Amino acid sequence: MKIFADTAITEELRDVAHIIDGCTTNPSLIAKSGRKFEDVVKEICGIVNGPISAEVISLEASGMINEARKLSKIHKNIVVKIPMTDEGLKAIKKLKQEKIKTNCTLVFSANQALLAAKAGATYVSPFIGRLDDLGEEGINLVEEIVTIYDNYGFETEIIVASIRNANHVKMAAMIGADIATVPYAVIKEMMKHHLTDKGIAKFLEDWNKVPKAVEKKQSI
Ligand code: G3P
Repeated sequence: MKIFADTAITEELRDVAHIIDGCTTNPSLIAKSGRKFEDVVKEICGIVNGPISAEVISLEASGMINEARKLSKIHKNIVVKIPMTDEGLKAIKKLKQEKIKTNCTLVFSANQALLAAKAGATYVSPFIGRLDDLGEEGINLVEEIVTIYDNYGFETEIIVASIRNANHVKMAAMIGADIATVPYAVIKEMMKHHLTDKGIAKFLEDWNKVPKAVEKKQSI
């Protein structure tokens, strides 16, 4: 499974660039960066060597298409994030014809994901954490989408989004999602295990008990 970083904070991206395969942003994450949209997206393109999702804000297909054309010119790795609406599906279909990659976002049901794939979305983003917030099991939605896409051989890749913890990432991988887009803090959490820390401390403690060879002084 590929791992994308779900952040627009470039310091965070630099720190995890060696283990990520791409990056996703959205208007809220751009706002959190406190920087201008184009500036931050351009900088991300210099850090991340993989697909970078940048979202449109238009609500009508024509506006989405215009924004997408401009965004796709920034860098070859740009993927245009389009919200899952009727207008969004029209835009995705047209952008597919123009060979502009899309990520259909704000997906909360299997039927929405089915329509996104039929429209030709390159990626689909089910938001599992926001479903969990409503008392649902968000990860079940990913399982449903995997089954539907496998049944019909859709090429749309599933980006599990709205991830809140390391267990979400593990579940996404076990189900066979293509990608998980993961907040910086959760990527860090994935690296950690208290037994790893304890093990390192014990190895170092024992290493200090090992007799060391005396370094010979070189004669002049
Ligand atoms: O990339 C969009 C998605 O991951 C948003 O997550 O935490 O705002 O539900 P969240």
